[in-house]
Amino acid sequence: MTDPVCLANIGFMKSKSINILGIETSCDETAAAVVADGNIIKSSIIASQTKLHEKYGGIVPEIASRAHIEKIYPVIAEAIERAEVGEDDIDAIAVANQPGLTVALVIGVTAAKTLSLMWEKPLIAINHLHAHLQSAVLCEKDLELPAVALIVSGGHTSLYDYRSPLEPKLLGSTIDDAAGEAFDKVANILRLPYPGGPSIEEAAEKGNPEAIEFPRSMLGADSLDFSFSGIKTAVLYYCRGQDMKGEDKVDSMSEQEIADIAASFQAAVVDVLIKKTERAVERIGAKTVLLGGGVAANNQLRNRLQTMCETAVPAKKLLVAPKQYCTDNAVMVASLGYHKFKAKLFADLTLEPKACGL
Ligand code: KG4
Ligand code: ZN
Repeated sequence: MTDPVCLANIGFMKSKSINILGIETSCDETAAAVVADGNIIKSSIIASQTKLHEKYGGIVPEIASRAHIEKIYPVIAEAIERAEVGEDDIDAIAVANQPGLTVALVIGVTAAKTLSLMWEKPLIAINHLHAHLQSAVLCEKDLELPAVALIVSGGHTSLYDYRSPLEPKLLGSTIDDAAGEAFDKVANILRLPYPGGPSIEEAAEKGNPEAIEFPRSMLGADSLDFSFSGIKTAVLYYCRGQDMKGEDKVDSMSEQEIADIAASFQAAVVDVLIKKTERAVERIGAKTVLLGGGVAANNQLRNRLQTMCETAVPAKKLLVAPKQYCTDNAVMVASLGYHKFKAKLFADLTLEPKACGL
């Protein structure tokens, strides 16, 4: 399955392309992909667990782990079949080993180690956040550097100074909740379906973003860190009263009131993300801005960042991950794996999953 987004990059086919099998199990998606030469997508298979976690309003680690065990083999087998490659055509196996839920990461890492041993292929360890960043540059041939990369996902909100795929330098990150986590928790408060990001975005379309003035936490004039727990609490207080002893008003709210809260919350989160990215761009003199991670699927964020880049002096180029590669996938893992393969940055069979990793 060749992605149309990347057809332009096929152009001149080299005699022997480098095929990387990517494996991703850091959270609630079991994914595998085969990518040639870093950007020719031969297959991308994703088994989403959204339905399993929906009724809990968030991810339950034990359920995620069990679902990965069930799906990992069929997902990898399908990725290889759809790519129409044999094991001999695979040059290396890249796997996300950090950051994420260790009980989930361990399934992908174990599968990758097993295949590496059986097929005698190099193993490549991938940082899941750096891989998200790769989704934004997947099809770009003329990337002007330095770039500022904003990665906004369910577990992380991070700004990077990006000068090469191998060594993005962290400029700032969340000190409490991630942006996606705030979307999920606020959706929960508003009784909107999980995952919260798309539900809030949909509800916000009919709402007034200026209806409620939720706080925008900037953490000081120079800070590139983020904090989203305050705004989540502000929404909770708005719905339940300051002392949390009042009745929960959500059930008696009209659809318009819910839409106004969703729109005002979304506007506040996007304001903070834009302002901090603008600061980072000024700080490093960036020529390009990269956007990736699950929350990058949000149209408000994409449009506002586009405006920020167009109105900056001088204007910046914005590269946003295609929507299907914003949320977790293995294409981004295989793509970054290609760069690590070229740099001969291999792992060995002692590779372990790690919950943290910036
Ligand atoms: O990157 P991702 O798939 O998983 C992690 O690495 O965490 O991101 C998932 C997050 C969830 O919090 C989800 O609510 C959020 O991305 N998300 C969105 C949208 N689509 C997904 N947030 C805001 N607007 C969206 N359209
Ligand atoms: Zn992710």
